[in-house]
Amino acid sequence: MCGIVGYIGKRRAYDILIQGLHRLEYRGYDSSGVAMISEDGELNIYKAKGKVEALEHFAASKDLSGTIGIAHTRWATHGEPNDINAHPHFSQSGRLAMVHNGTIENYSVLKDALSSHGYNFISQTDTEVAVHLIEYIMQKNNCSLFDAVREATKRIVGAYAIAIVDKQNPDQIIAARQSSPLVIGVGEGEYFLASDATPIIEYTNKVIYLNDGDIAVINRGQELKVFDSNSTSESEIKITELQMSIEQLEKGGYPHFMLKEIFEQPKTLADCISGRISADGKRVTLSGVIEHKEKFLNTNRIIIVACGTSWHAALIGKHLFEEFCRIPVVVEYASEFRYSNPVVNPGDVLIALSQSGETADTLAALELAKANGAFVFGICNVIGSSIPRATHSGCYIHVGPEIGVASTKAFTGQVTVLAMMSLLIGQMKGTVSDEVVANVASDIRRVPALIKDIFKLNDKIEELAKIFTYAHNFLYLGRGYNYPSALEGALKLKEISYIHAEGYPAAEMKHGTIALIDNDMPSVVIAIKDNVYEKTVNNIQQVKARGGKVVAIVTEGDTIVADMADYVLEVPQIAECLTPLLTAIPLQLLAYYIAVNKGRNVDQPRNLAKSVTVE
Ligand code: G6P
Repeated sequence: MCGIVGYIGKRRAYDILIQGLHRLEYRGYDSSGVAMISEDGELNIYKAKGKVEALEHFAASKDLSGTIGIAHTRWATHGEPNDINAHPHFSQSGRLAMVHNGTIENYSVLKDALSSHGYNFISQTDTEVAVHLIEYIMQKNNCSLFDAVREATKRIVGAYAIAIVDKQNPDQIIAARQSSPLVIGVGEGEYFLASDATPIIEYTNKVIYLNDGDIAVINRGQELKVFDSNSTSESEIKITELQMSIEQLEKGGYPHFMLKEIFEQPKTLADCISGRISADGKRVTLSGVIEHKEKFLNTNRIIIVACGTSWHAALIGKHLFEEFCRIPVVVEYASEFRYSNPVVNPGDVLIALSQSGETADTLAALELAKANGAFVFGICNVIGSSIPRATHSGCYIHVGPEIGVASTKAFTGQVTVLAMMSLLIGQMKGTVSDEVVANVASDIRRVPALIKDIFKLNDKIEELAKIFTYAHNFLYLGRGYNYPSALEGALKLKEISYIHAEGYPAAEMKHGTIALIDNDMPSVVIAIKDNVYEKTVNNIQQVKARGGKVVAIVTEGDTIVADMADYVLEVPQIAECLTPLLTAIPLQLLAYYIAVNKGRNVDQPRNLAKSVTVE
């Protein structure tokens, strides 16, 4: 949700900023812009509505000199996406330029106060208010930019990651964060700044993750200094070494990141499992759980908070924990949980599930639970992101950077970690037999190979997608472990093809949704051989009886459903609790090919962003 880049050093800043914006485009693509101090001391801002490409086109004929600059790619919150609301924003005098990721909640109060001091506003953004405020403080107190930023952060309420340059000091960038991420890359005589490490990795693997309340003073050729906004002393700087590789950030020959990420799943799940299941296949090791085992063994309930696809994975987690650990689980939308005055007590375990580790609602939900004495555990993908740093313990899914806005490999990584966790806790608690653990754990190890097998369906699904590309509505039905799969299949289709789709528990369909079924509304039914297989078969018959078309995802060798469904996609046999890992693959591919046929921007669907750092 908005991406920030910054650079100060020896190279042409523009090249680094543009490349960085491309890497961060998944965070928002309503507009983008750069601010650079040129060789002759001008502070130039170039910005354009739309994707980074539009900015490049616009800036091509301009002065792109200078070795210091900041840049921004926007997901609009305040004010429509246009050139004027695009970042960076100038201060009133044109001396400062600022980029911002987050939301300033008290911006209208600040705006009124600044207006009464004669400040004018060109844009509708909260960011322009903040940069005017900083300049106002500088002038009023006759202080440095750093002091003004420190003072401004005391008056600003909300979430922000900001970077500011000052025309009168071409050797300095000031950056600050509160609830929105910011990473500084440390090179040889140069510094990089970004919302995540992806724009930095090609230049240096040494990074510093800023903490909430940090203000960084980045001076050219000097040592970086970080201050806590509430104290005068310098904060200790911890340099972390990145484990990411540049290849992970490229499409690697695939037309879209989403397709690459779907096809990466055998490898990403092998990485996710690696070292976590013992050689004899009888035990699971997750140190973040084992080190806090008494929290899981003594709790009376687990709360899982998440958003979007992660929320669907959480629903599968509920089944897993209840089956293997016999611990009641509630799954909450983080955005609802945080404002519902929830009952959370010491002794509760709250799991925050998030690919990005930055989702504002999930972060706020876990802070709330922590404040009420709960033990908070994170399951995230992005290493060093805010949620893992705010939790007591956690576990990474290790599936590598996910760039496509529609989540695919993170979903299967999350389900895999939840499966391993539930086996581990269940085994420690004695609520699952060693034999079941061994069987399920050995099936988890088979998943990468089985997914490779499912890829044989690719061409068939591509053909199938052609038949359904022009449907206006879809129904996705599933039960038990695969009810969340139905929700996730429908979400995939909605977000990238813009076709309306509804996920439903198959048996619940007859209480209303069945009224929608006709020849024009296809149903995708997950009808694998589980404990409710016969009932799902009945549901398929009910759809067929009303003239509906059925695409069924079935267990290999199924002939019963094959006889009644219009199209059948087979997935291999596996432990029932792991079937969502296999059924996810045809659902992802179907959504992908339908969206491609419709000519959609699969990796950057309209109105969406991958990392939702605003409410
Ligand atoms: C956005 C993304 C989804 C993601 C959701 C939650 O909506 O587009 O793909 O599932 O945020 O994100 P998180 O990073 O917390 O899993």
